[in-house]
Amino acid sequence: MLKSLPLALLAATPALSWDGFGHQTVGYIAQKYFTSETNATLGAIIGLNPEFDIGDAAAWADTVRDGANLPWSKNWHFINPKGDDPNNHICTMNYTLDCPGSNCIVAAIMNQTSILLDTARDSIARRNATMWLLHFFGDLHQPMHTSGYKLGGNAVRPVCWDQAAPCPGGTRNLHAIWDSAIPRKLRGMPEETTDAEEKIAAIQWAGDIFAKQQAESLDIATGVCSDLHGPGCVLAYAAESNRLVCSNALKDGEAWVLSHDLSKGYYEENAMVVEDRVGKAGVRLAAWMNAVVRVLAAKEREEDL
Ligand SMILES: *[C@@H]1O[C@H](CO)[C@@H](O)[C@H](O)[C@H]1NC(C)=O
Ligand SMILES: *[C@@H]1O[C@H](CO)[C@@H](O)[C@H](O)[C@H]1NC(C)=O
Ligand SMILES: *[C@@H]1O[C@H](CO)[C@@H](O)[C@H](O)[C@H]1NC(C)=O
Ligand SMILES: *[C@@H]1O[C@H](CO)[C@@H](O)[C@H](O)[C@H]1NC(C)=O
Repeated sequence: MLKSLPLALLAATPALSWDGFGHQTVGYIAQKYFTSETNATLGAIIGLNPEFDIGDAAAWADTVRDGANLPWSKNWHFINPKGDDPNNHICTMNYTLDCPGSNCIVAAIMNQTSILLDTARDSIARRNATMWLLHFFGDLHQPMHTSGYKLGGNAVRPVCWDQAAPCPGGTRNLHAIWDSAIPRKLRGMPEETTDAEEKIAAIQWAGDIFAKQQAESLDIATGVCSDLHGPGCVLAYAAESNRLVCSNALKDGEAWVLSHDLSKGYYEENAMVVEDRVGKAGVRLAAWMNAVVRVLAAKEREEDL
């Protein structure tokens, strides 16, 4: 989680993925759509409690991917399609080509789903698997996590934010704009926040998104897919995110992005896209987890016979 890091350091570090509070928000939204059985089953597997709730569990993966912890999980947070050329309006995904060695977010979701479904696995592996799934559905819906263009936008820099363009010496990159700057501005959050502030912000954002989904009686089931057998559903979600790179994130190409203050019109155009992605991630994560828990429950009934 990004807490009191100085801004310069924060910007110099490769971006993490939706800000800690973005991931927490996805977790809180999903919980609202869990069946009570899903809520109870996952709560028990993770060992949720008021000090470590579903939001914290959804943000966990970013706390273990660097340094000496579980660095091999780094590549699990994204897919980098090689054919992406947004400057020429080409956004395209080919699983065979773009997930070499099955070392990408799509394969990670499938593998961790298998581990969670395998009751013979040890409880730590299944706990981690659950928390990875809570996290990766968030990343999967962040367009820059599904783009091969310049390392998912990490190398599109310096971009200007609240600063006249161009901004030589600026330290921000496009990836971080989507992870953090847009959601933080949307929710009126300052650059630096404590863990406690992020949690409060996430609970509120989840509540607002859920209320909006209900009030607009959005057909939130549209596009929801929970066939656990192959990567089809997950690939479709990834491809949908990837298309947003061409339609939104790099709509007018890199040169445009580098020559505008992104906190102005660009922010206005994309703030609701970000909110929609966070909302969809929560709904789809819940559908996936509900499907997993149905399979687990059926297995248990078989064992009881
Ligand atoms: C889900 O589980 C959490 C504990 O992990 C609990 O606080 C919450 O009330 C439960 N929600 C529902 C709808 O059962
Ligand atoms: C995807 O990439 C593989 C490997 O390069 C290639 O054989 C296949 O034809 C590609 N599929 C499509 C739909 O382009
Ligand atoms: C998924 O599992 C396959 C088969 O065991 C393995 O080759 C691959 O590296 C795994 N990928 C991830 C991201 O876990
Ligand atoms: C699970 O995550 C913990 C860190 O929280 C790590 O120490 C452990 O090795 C992981 N185990 C597996 C099987 O992923």
